[in-house]
Amino acid sequence: MSETLTQALVNLAYVIAASLFILGLKGLSHPRTAVRGNLLGATGMLIAVVVTLLDRHIVGFELIIAGFVIGAAVGATLAVKIPMTAMPQLVALFNGFGGAASALVAGAALIDPVLQPPTGVTLQFGVATVLSGLIGAVTFWGSLVAFGKLQGLIEEKPVLLPGRHAINALLLLGALAVGALLVRDVESVGLYWGVVALASLLGVLLVIPIGGADMPVVISLLNSYSGLAAAATGFVLGNNALIISGSLVGAAGLILTNLMCKAMNRSLPNVLFGGVGAATTASTREQEDIYAGRVKSTSPEEVAMLLEGARRVAIIPGYGMAVAQAQYPVRDLYQLLEQRGVEVYFAIHPVAGRMPGHMNVLLAEVDIPYDKLKGLEESNALLPETDVALVVGANDVVNPKARDVNDPSNPIAGMPILEADKAKVVVIIKRSLSPGFAGIPNPLFAADNALMLFADARKALTEIVNALKEL
Ligand code: TAP
Repeated sequence: MSETLTQALVNLAYVIAASLFILGLKGLSHPRTAVRGNLLGATGMLIAVVVTLLDRHIVGFELIIAGFVIGAAVGATLAVKIPMTAMPQLVALFNGFGGAASALVAGAALIDPVLQPPTGVTLQFGVATVLSGLIGAVTFWGSLVAFGKLQGLIEEKPVLLPGRHAINALLLLGALAVGALLVRDVESVGLYWGVVALASLLGVLLVIPIGGADMPVVISLLNSYSGLAAAATGFVLGNNALIISGSLVGAAGLILTNLMCKAMNRSLPNVLFGGVGAATTASTREQEDIYAGRVKSTSPEEVAMLLEGARRVAIIPGYGMAVAQAQYPVRDLYQLLEQRGVEVYFAIHPVAGRMPGHMNVLLAEVDIPYDKLKGLEESNALLPETDVALVVGANDVVNPKARDVNDPSNPIAGMPILEADKAKVVVIIKRSLSPGFAGIPNPLFAADNALMLFADARKALTEIVNALKEL
């Protein structure tokens, strides 16, 4: 087969793969089509991988197979072992490895002509290599810091170095200047590692000042960077599939980052440069002022009776449901209530839990029908017409303090919340009066229509289900 024909077939396969990626992403935008979307995306990736392997610009199958076996073993072990609550840091690590892979491949292409595009060493090759190294290294080191913060290995609170903005600007300019020298003389491979070293330092310093609470937003942004690094590496190798898939990851990551910022009523510059996050912890005095003498506690039996008498019930899950793995008794409760003719819906806040879609994933795991999951707006329209709102391990996402936009010390000022306080009765299941991630007291716990069920969510729900069965 002629060289031109082979190239045309390879490109055709890449176009098919890219179309499948786009259809896959479209499918992922709704829970009902997500599984099919995933399959389409995976098929696209399979086509891209097979075509790339059959194309002749590879180093050799031995190394690829060795990498595949080691990577698959590590990936499978992590997927099985990692608890759902540690998913954000796992995603951070994956993004970081993506960035590192892009930077290393671009570096290898500088050294080995086999990896260089058929067009040879052009200006495009030089510029793309510098961008790969720069963005890839920022992504890798930034993601490692994000991982360390979420895993509790390094200080979770913002670490604010004096003059950090100036230092970061200098590091970026330095990396770009060394990169410009490399573009002029691509034989000087040492310059490439200079770019990578400066960008690595930049990656650490960019993420260190960001608090743990904002880390999921940063991880989503780093995910976008890992896509951009991959796209740049696509230009280095002259590989269209990598350019397209990298750009899709870059764009999807940016859209998600934007959605998360909106759900927390924060701007991206405020997340990145504001030094905000998990820094406030309610003082005992502050808590006493809000709660003293006003908190009413209840029992599983009493909650079962309330639920039995209700016509419409909202279940509002939060981070505590994930910690307690309470989605299983939540499912039992849902089924029992539906059997008894009670209308049940799940009110899902976009930032409930610790990662995007956290609650959706847990509820899908126990087969809650998708049409029972209601978003912020729909839930808030239903809540005033709801007899019992059952808050399962959620705190910040139902905190009416968010309405207090004039208090400058209020970290959740203006954040859209699920208006659980508007339901006729609110039952809050959590172990204590401790604050949530934002570190502030929650006036909902002291509201006239609120009842606290102090217990582990899994245990409490199991007891409610048992009590309900006996009624
Ligand atoms: P939080 O406000 O963090 O509150 C979770 C509550 O769960 C805690 O108050 C805790 O109270 C309770 N809890 C923990 N373990 C429990 C258990 N075993 N059984 C029962 N309750 C338990 O959670 P939320 O309402 O889901 O809000 C999420 C927060 O994370 C928001 O501030 C959000 O901005 C932030 N955040 C989320 C994301 C994403 S993407 N989801 C991204 C960035 C930031 P006790 O200790 O008293 O039990």
